[in-house]
Amino acid sequence: MAPPDRSRTVPGALAQRRRGEAVPDDPGALDLAALEARARDLLPPEVADYYAGGADAETTLREAAGAWRSWRLRPRVLRGVSAVDVGTTVLGTDVRTPIGVAPWAYQGLAHPDGERGTARGAAAVGALMTVSTSAGTALADVAATEPVGPRWFQLYRLHSPAHTDDLARRAGDAGYGAIVLTVDLPVLGRRLRDRANDFALPADFALPNHPVGGSPPVTGQPPWTFDDIGRFGELSGLPVVVKGVLRGDDAARCAQAGAAAVWVSTHGGRQADPVVASAHALPEVVDAVGAEAEIYADGGLSSGSDVLTALALGARAVFVGRPVIWGLATGGADGVSRVLAGLTAQLAHTMALCGLADVRTVPRDTVTAAR
Ligand SMILES: Cc1cc2nc3c(=O)[nH]c(=O)nc-3n(C[C@H](O)[C@H](O)[C@H](O)COP(=O)(O)O)c2cc1C
Repeated sequence: MAPPDRSRTVPGALAQRRRGEAVPDDPGALDLAALEARARDLLPPEVADYYAGGADAETTLREAAGAWRSWRLRPRVLRGVSAVDVGTTVLGTDVRTPIGVAPWAYQGLAHPDGERGTARGAAAVGALMTVSTSAGTALADVAATEPVGPRWFQLYRLHSPAHTDDLARRAGDAGYGAIVLTVDLPVLGRRLRDRANDFALPADFALPNHPVGGSPPVTGQPPWTFDDIGRFGELSGLPVVVKGVLRGDDAARCAQAGAAAVWVSTHGGRQADPVVASAHALPEVVDAVGAEAEIYADGGLSSGSDVLTALALGARAVFVGRPVIWGLATGGADGVSRVLAGLTAQLAHTMALCGLADVRTVPRDTVTAAR
């Protein structure tokens, strides 16, 4: 008899997952390296490089995954854990997994379904999706994609401040749950692969959230400051998440300025390089912010144990970029579901191995620095 295709059964398992569900012995067969290789076979090389690449010498990109592995788990034994709960809340919204979709641009280059495919795939497994300003689909259309799942809108500073303000208002009107201000892109990082490849969007590729004829980032417009956190909150009527913070002092100022959450990120190693890895910046940010704001992290997370490490270090939720890109490129919405469900199954499995029952209360002493 043929073995069951676990990669297909896992999303269903997550879709049906209820609070405190028993954990299967085998978390499934997600292989992100193989998925990336399949995506590379399917995509034009310059598009695959645009997605995979980083800035400058790509030191940050190379170090991201290893930095999570510079921590070690400290399993608890004899705790009577027979079921694991991976459901949580982010800014008060229920999600069935603490692993969300990071914003990423130009999804239509990965798959014809573009952002709608990602939205369907994330919603199918109850995961939060962050929609990029640089989406190929208008923000209202992604918001309305069924099934409707938890969605946040990521805001870039665009050519026209008036247009940027208008986007924030429209995100509020369209039903997004938060504005994610990306603050680590005052200017674009030096993406050397894109230069070498002469990477450019196809002439007919529309960016409906951008002002006509303009693309971010911009110089010559007033740069954002901490005051913009409250301003965008008022304009949109939404909580504001500040994405791209790597220092405790900045994180504390964001919280004081009214940020509901701080998102520790190196922008996937695509901006300043080399910078401190998210896995090393996260503890400082958590210490500085305390209970003032929620804290999230992304960058190089590729296994359930990486995710558990981030949660133990104080992240309430994490986000993944490239794993979702490879999922969409290889399988559309189903591919996205499989990646998110596969990582979540790994997380549940690792929690069971570590004697932890609830993803919302992972103690800090679950990890220690590797020696
Ligand atoms: C191809 C690509 C496009 C991205 N586009 C955006 C974007 O439009 N807005 C944004 O805030 N971050 C963007 N990011 C950064 C991601 O949101 C996220 O911080 C990063 O990808 C996480 O690292 P990971 O890819 O290793 O999971 C992009 C990343 C990639 C790889």
